[in-house]
Amino acid sequence: MCGIVGCTTHGAEVVGGLIESLKRLEYRGYDSAGIAAQTPTGIGIVRRVGKIRELESHLLTEPLHSSTAIGHTRWATHGRPTEANAHPHRCGKLVVVHNGIIENYLELRQELGDAVFQSETDTEVVAHLVAKLWNGDLAATVRLAVGRLEGSFALALMHEDMPDLIVAARRDSPLVIGVGDAAHWLASDVPALLPWTRRVIYLEDGDVAELRPDTLRVTDTSGKVQQRDIVEISWSAEMAEKGGYAHFMLKEIHEQPTTVANALLGRIAEKSGLVTLEGLNIDDDTLRTLRRVSIVACGTSWHAAQVGRFLIEQDSGLPVEVDYASEAIYREPLLGRDDLLIAISQSGETADTRAALRRGREAGAHTLVICNVAGSSMARDSTNVLLTYAGPEIGVASTKAFMGQLTVLSLLALKLGAVRGRLTDDVMRQRLHELKTLPHAIEAALRTSDEARSIAGELAAARDALFIGRGVNYPIALEGALKLKEISYIHAEGYPAGEMKHGPIALIDAQMPVIAVATRSATYPIMAGNVEEARSRAARVIAVVSEGDDRVARAAWRTLVVPAVPENLSPLVNIVPLQLLAYWTAVARNADVDQPRNLAKTVTVQ
Ligand code: G6P
Repeated sequence: MCGIVGCTTHGAEVVGGLIESLKRLEYRGYDSAGIAAQTPTGIGIVRRVGKIRELESHLLTEPLHSSTAIGHTRWATHGRPTEANAHPHRCGKLVVVHNGIIENYLELRQELGDAVFQSETDTEVVAHLVAKLWNGDLAATVRLAVGRLEGSFALALMHEDMPDLIVAARRDSPLVIGVGDAAHWLASDVPALLPWTRRVIYLEDGDVAELRPDTLRVTDTSGKVQQRDIVEISWSAEMAEKGGYAHFMLKEIHEQPTTVANALLGRIAEKSGLVTLEGLNIDDDTLRTLRRVSIVACGTSWHAAQVGRFLIEQDSGLPVEVDYASEAIYREPLLGRDDLLIAISQSGETADTRAALRRGREAGAHTLVICNVAGSSMARDSTNVLLTYAGPEIGVASTKAFMGQLTVLSLLALKLGAVRGRLTDDVMRQRLHELKTLPHAIEAALRTSDEARSIAGELAAARDALFIGRGVNYPIALEGALKLKEISYIHAEGYPAGEMKHGPIALIDAQMPVIAVATRSATYPIMAGNVEEARSRAARVIAVVSEGDDRVARAAWRTLVVPAVPENLSPLVNIVPLQLLAYWTAVARNADVDQPRNLAKTVTVQ
């Protein structure tokens, strides 16, 4: 986790710009932050515990004037969030910022024997190691040092004797260079660069880059020069701004009709009933002979995987298993050449998912990545990549990226179903038509916002909440519960409604709100029965129901009414009121919606 920034230019002040960039990386961690800047009297460092604004207000009273600087926003792994543990770390004339984990830092600390450490971090060992190996050339010494490091890292370093130079290195943690006019920028992620440039270079694992205002040199760890292409980013800076909404999360929830439309764009031909998935380079014959699909993911992406399982099994007849990436990597991967391993990750950087993907590939399975960030590690490591095209997601709690994943999974299920002869052309045409009208249904689901806000006023007082759903909407109950707990800190659990009787029903009383996903489906009557059971035990049931519903609505305390859509598409509509409910509840509790405590958007550590 953590976010890194840097800039080197001629004469112009860069510290204010780096603070702007750091704010755009705050989703990666926000327990402390710091800046190191080259000044005429040496490198000045300012670090503060808390959010970037603490650092910013300090710099307003005691400014750092500089045209070459690096900065960092932290999510603590080794050592508490204190000023001493905040980055940058210094050793003599050297400073360093780091994202990732140096796994052999204790060993290196021992080896560095007499070095005096100021922090409890794994990062500081890098500064001491570079100082020990110092040969007068920063890039050359960094190349030597990274050869000694185990684990994952994105690093940026400066040395007092080379006032316009930043050296960066990466392995298994993202790092992007922004190419400006007589300036080079550096960041962990593209949104941090967008106010300054849209021309970026994605560094590869093993790259060491030397940034000066007018030159950029990238080598591998042996010093061999590497050619890296400049990529033009189509996202605008505004796309990563709040656009008039109080929070990024609310804006991103409202962008979801567009998310679906973008994810479908150019991929469906309704008249011919064809799905074309550019980026999926597995030929139809191979898709026909697949034996099994295995999906790995974490967090919200894991919930998308659970919906994907339902869709792929129903449409293609292929058995699908879903695993937490963090669990899959500690078991024997029972995958072979007739299996397809799908890794789902909005960021494309999640350490566990990357590791699970690597293991699947090594076991000989076909692999496919579904992710939102074109230049991410997973997207670049894979021959098969389906992008979700949701645009930058800044709110830590994922909403539109999830929607993009569900859309792509729907398309993949259809594609597999068609290729494997389970879905006829007529059925495909019908299904594609339904998909195409989905943005309107999501638009209508967004109109539950006022009702969700009014319910949230009461839900905000709850200590616990139970979410229930069935079939393809069971993962939506899980995701609804996750959203609520992530941002409002109310304890919430998602359960398959049929399991309610096997335990959770014991918890139900007037104090326990039950949120039921009970829209039109094959299991509607039985779901309505579950709602009535909860109601008769005094629960206040908040039900997501289809337009025209009367049975569940009668038993429910409050309803969130969404348009009726085919069951397989209902997760994409039903999640919307649950996102809104979580959002408004968090607002009612005065919680920090976009940056919930202890969480980070991109989890690059295991
Ligand atoms: C973190 C984020 C979640 C996300 C999960 C997996 O926990 O806060 O929103 O679902 O990581 O991330 P990924 O980028 O792999 O989808």
